[in-house]
Amino acid sequence: SPSDPDLVARARAAKKKLGDKVFVLGHHYQRDEVIQFADVTGDSFKLARDAAARPEAEYIVFCGVHFMAESADILTTGDQKVVLPDLAAGCSMADMATAEQVAECWDVLAEAGITEQVVPVSYMNSSADIKAFTGKHGGTICTSSNARRALEWAFQQGEKILFLPDQHLGRNTAVRDLGLSLDDCVVYNPHRPNGGLTVEELRAAKMILWRGHCSVHGRFSLESVRDVRERVPGVNVLVHPECRHEVVAAADYVGSTEYIIKTLEAAPAGSKWAIGTELNLVRRLANRFAPEGKEVVFLDRTVCFCSTMNRIDLPHLVWALESLAEGTLVNRIQVDEETEAFAKLALERMLALP
Ligand code: 13P
Ligand code: SF4
Repeated sequence: SPSDPDLVARARAAKKKLGDKVFVLGHHYQRDEVIQFADVTGDSFKLARDAAARPEAEYIVFCGVHFMAESADILTTGDQKVVLPDLAAGCSMADMATAEQVAECWDVLAEAGITEQVVPVSYMNSSADIKAFTGKHGGTICTSSNARRALEWAFQQGEKILFLPDQHLGRNTAVRDLGLSLDDCVVYNPHRPNGGLTVEELRAAKMILWRGHCSVHGRFSLESVRDVRERVPGVNVLVHPECRHEVVAAADYVGSTEYIIKTLEAAPAGSKWAIGTELNLVRRLANRFAPEGKEVVFLDRTVCFCSTMNRIDLPHLVWALESLAEGTLVNRIQVDEETEAFAKLALERMLALP
């Protein structure tokens, strides 16, 4: 949607008034009207790194979702304040693993006698509590751009991985990148007694996948891939690893949002691309690459925004920036000290991956 010129002018003025005191980060799934005000854009890995790159900025305005703002708070100095323009911008996948459920799961693994062998690996898309659990038990965080290295690292520390909370990223990385078989993976369902698994199944598994998924990427199906190949002859199918295994298996390329952008930048003129990820990004890429003669289409026929990413809109951003410019701190995201210490351990293990 075209941005309201009055709001654009207000955002610009507030940002100018704040100067170097504010640093605005924007995830690739953000709306155009918001992304135009981002000082840096990126995937979740790049944004985690970039958040720590401006220690002189008093305010980090995070245009993304709650777990990203928490991670930014963990990785920045104590004096820096991280602001999420709409506190309702959560992530349904992150909500699929609560601290209580994960503690219960660990008890189940302990009863099966396997906790000594298990290394937790948690996707960035998880709450600070889950990151702290991960750090406490010797594990690491990963994003879609370093999941392979994270799993390789974890398999050097132990024989089994508990992967939280995205079963698809866990399975896709284990099978595609590490050469494990689908039979090496089991799914732990937090809503069933003992995760719905027998002790034998837990003992035999190499990957214990939490039963979580992204509702946006879960919409792409094998049918979408077949359909687009018919609709657009010669198309390259490029999808995010949060997609289901059969979609990833049928695709030509798989990677994080940053990888998707880089791949299109390097693509030759005349090439055609069907992208399986969030729609704000795909539309932006379609507009950006059309003049270069690269055709970019959305993988599915239905509309597929991330509703919580979309909660950050220009009115919320203007409100946050104007409040900060007037000296009022709003919507601060602050992780408590104990959680932060263990979560930071897990995040730093990720940042130190080779
Ligand atoms: P990346 O930007 O790391 O690819 O993550 C995608 C996503 O779903 C973020 O919520
Ligand atoms: Fe969460 Fe999926 Fe939205 Fe990313 S795209 S914030 S994983 S619901």
